Amino acid sequence: MVRGYTPRDFRDILKIEKEAFSPQNPAYDLFIYLSHSTDLLVADIGGNVIGYISVMDMNDSSKIISFAVKKEFQGHGVGSMLMDEAIKRCIERGKKSIMLEVRVSNERAQKLYKKKGFKVIDVLPGYYRDGEDAYLMVLNLEAI
Ligand SMILES: CC(C)(COP(=O)(O)OP(=O)(O)OC[C@H]1O[C@@H](n2cnc3c(N)ncnc32)[C@H](O)[C@@H]1OP(=O)(O)O)[C@@H](O)C(=O)NCCC(=O)NCCS
Repeated sequence: MVRGYTPRDFRDILKIEKEAFSPQNPAYDLFIYLSHSTDLLVADIGGNVIGYISVMDMNDSSKIISFAVKKEFQGHGVGSMLMDEAIKRCIERGKKSIMLEVRVSNERAQKLYKKKGFKVIDVLPGYYRDGEDAYLMVLNLEAI
């Protein structure tokens, strides 16, 4: 099931984030998601968190801050469920669009985003710490 974050999910999200992004300072990154998220959703199987999506509202649009599914559960529709719930909640909050950035090499995530209706509107050169470019993608919620 997809549900809202509770503090006892912190450790599980931290593990998923470390595995997915190998961040330099995962606890700090997670603190940023928590403090900036309007909506932090988790996918829960029998009390174990296997994925999360963090969304921040900005005026009339929203932004996906972070999104990941535990490796062993990827490719089974969990990410799709999380994204669908996040989109639904953005619409309920009256948002007109959702933005996100994704590595140009991350074709798997891009495929999911395109399936949900996101479109590439720009390339952000050297966006990531290692110098990789990002695609800026937007989903127009008014067209849904
Ligand atoms: C991106 C991510 C969150 C997707 O979660 P997921 O649970 O694996 O995705 P789903 O199983 O719901 O798949 C949704 C769509 O993604 C694409 N997809 C999923 N697994 C894929 C794979 N192994 N190869 C190619 N495309 C794949 C497909 O389009 C799929 O739709 P389909 O099954 O109808 O063909 C997950 O792969 C992940 O955590 N990746 C590492 C972190 C990351 O890249 N986050 C995004 C940063 S912008």
